[in-house]
Amino acid sequence: MKLVIQGGNMLRGRVRVSGAKNAALLLIAASAIVRGEVILDNVPRIADVETQLEIVRALGGRAEWQEANRVLLNWPDQFEAIVPYKLAKKLRASNLFLGALAARIGQVQVPLPGGCDIGSRPMDLHVKGLNALGFEVVLEHGFIDARARELRGGRIYLDFPSVGATENIMMAAVGIPGTTVVENVAKEPEIVDLASFLNATGATIRGAGTDLIKIEGREPGARSVSSEQMRFSVIPDRIEAGTYMIAAAAMGTEVTIENVISQHLQPVIAKLQDMGLDVLVDEDSLTVRRNGSLQATDIKTFPYPGFPTDLQSPIMVLLCLAIGTGVISENVFDNRFRVADELKRMGAQIRVKGHTAVVEGPVRLLGAQVKATDLRAGAALIVAGLVAEGETEICQAELIARGYEKVVEKFSALGARIKCVD
Ligand code: UD1
Repeated sequence: MKLVIQGGNMLRGRVRVSGAKNAALLLIAASAIVRGEVILDNVPRIADVETQLEIVRALGGRAEWQEANRVLLNWPDQFEAIVPYKLAKKLRASNLFLGALAARIGQVQVPLPGGCDIGSRPMDLHVKGLNALGFEVVLEHGFIDARARELRGGRIYLDFPSVGATENIMMAAVGIPGTTVVENVAKEPEIVDLASFLNATGATIRGAGTDLIKIEGREPGARSVSSEQMRFSVIPDRIEAGTYMIAAAAMGTEVTIENVISQHLQPVIAKLQDMGLDVLVDEDSLTVRRNGSLQATDIKTFPYPGFPTDLQSPIMVLLCLAIGTGVISENVFDNRFRVADELKRMGAQIRVKGHTAVVEGPVRLLGAQVKATDLRAGAALIVAGLVAEGETEICQAELIARGYEKVVEKFSALGARIKCVD
């Protein structure tokens, strides 16, 4: 799949953000802990969600779209414990069935996950956590195989606040009698969403959103929710929102981004303001207004509430347009600058050394044929294509469809000339 963009059209108007990809993928997996129907609202209709739903079906669960963005999930009393490789290899979030199935049935086999090629993505912290809770975990034949042995609450310190490890440990600990304390955990909004979801099923989780989470667990598979049906709405996607904010900063006069939790976007708002943009925050929307030229700034990615690594590629494009030198330090993943080579093909001046990229601006970007090397690199290339003179053709655009709902429609409604070619 290809996206073809004719650059140079100003963006203007309003765009509505979808539900968060990473929260939706997580809650679809977490639904395995619940006995009874789970209805999730505000679920984005994107390729990664479709794959996660296919995994539920492959394991024997029910997963159906009910309305445009509503999904019904229901797990039978008995189901498969082996996540199939052919689906798991498509996305990293397939590893979230590890914690969920460990909690519900005490055993699970998950293939070492796939997903975006943005550096090595080990699973050691997930394994360390499950070990500490009394699971025997072996890595063989490309699978992580976890089996309940002597389950007990434990105290776990994460060497790095990994999002996925925090989520898997929280879910697994819900199915274990006793108290589990996890320190140096991730504080991302998706973690808080998971705690709210699990607490709504009758779990007791405190501290989500801080460095320490405490979980009071129960027997594996214990009846988890009293009502027959549980409803939950997925939080808005802060990365999608940030992408439209950056596109607006690059090519906008005034763009309002609706359905946002602005607190989740503080690091992005602060950086756009540093670069000279007006960001007006309203109750559940925000408006980005470009008044004049952009000024360079430095970007350091960090776990939340730091600047999100998932917006590092898109903001690199903005630095190409800004006056001065901007230095980006990537502190979360070890190979996330591949987009720089594609942007250079469009005229960018970027030097990459290790975990640092030095971006010189302002440059005139020219349309070119480029390749989306991963999901967020693809989003960055859309922003670059909107600005560039002439036509930009982005191949491997199916990677963008993994995480952005109706991306062509949304950008077109803002005035972009963008189309999808199969
Ligand atoms: C999640 C998000 C992804 C985002 C990332 C960081 C989902 C589905 N994906 O990915 O969009 O970019 O958080 O905000 O929610 N690490 C280890 N050992 C481990 C686990 C992780 O060393 O056991 C390292 C990774 O290699 C990486 C860093 O920790 O360098 C961050 O990874 P992590 O926070 O786990 O990200 P994901 O959960 O994979």
